[in-house]
Amino acid sequence: MNLILFGPPAAGKGTQAKRLVEEKGMVQLSTGDMLRAAIASGSELGLKVKDVLARGDLVTDEIVIALIEDRLPEAEAGGGAIFDGFPRTVAQAEALDAMLAKRGAQIDAVVRLKVDDSALLERIAKRYAEQGRPDDNPDTFVVRLDAYNRNTAPLLPYYDAQGKLTEADGMGSIESVAKAIDEALA
Ligand SMILES: Nc1ncnc2c1ncn2[C@@H]1O[C@H](COP(=O)(O)OP(=O)(O)OP(=O)(O)O)[C@@H](O)[C@H]1O
Ligand SMILES: [Mg+2]
Repeated sequence: MNLILFGPPAAGKGTQAKRLVEEKGMVQLSTGDMLRAAIASGSELGLKVKDVLARGDLVTDEIVIALIEDRLPEAEAGGGAIFDGFPRTVAQAEALDAMLAKRGAQIDAVVRLKVDDSALLERIAKRYAEQGRPDDNPDTFVVRLDAYNRNTAPLLPYYDAQGKLTEADGMGSIESVAKAIDEALA
């Protein structure tokens, strides 16, 4: 089973992915986490993407596609992948379909977490105060939301056309969102 958790920044994708890892033994593939780990390690990749993340812009498709491709065998060996924060562009979605097809696999479900912009801004202000993630500052967050609307939201018709898209009310409690995701996976 390969699942895409879809939604704007701070929709709660990471929270739900971690639960699925614990309950179902799936493997979380979060490009945001991978990029932050690269930055923290001071690797060549980290140096290359540091300013891009700090600005709230998207890193190149080439970089994130390579990160995901590296981790597909591990996800396959586990109970399948939860794609969290990937794909974020149509080119990434097409590359993902091709990479999976090459391995005789596919995306089984795409769950969209729907959250109002005003609720996102509230959540992010709280997360910024608690965790201080630099790209959660209000000005940068607006850039991230804009990148979502421009580049990522156009993926909704892409997956809808494949009959894979389901929607969950991301404004509800963590438990109610979890229930909606489990229903989509059943
Ligand atoms: N697939 C991708 N393509 C391009 N850039 C990406 C991609 N994934 C992550 N990034 C970069 O990493 C940053 C952080 O992304 P991340 O997925 O961690 O957001 P998020 O706020 O944690 O979402 P959530 O809270 O719902 O889990 C993005 O703003 C972008 O710069
Ligand atoms: Mg995240």
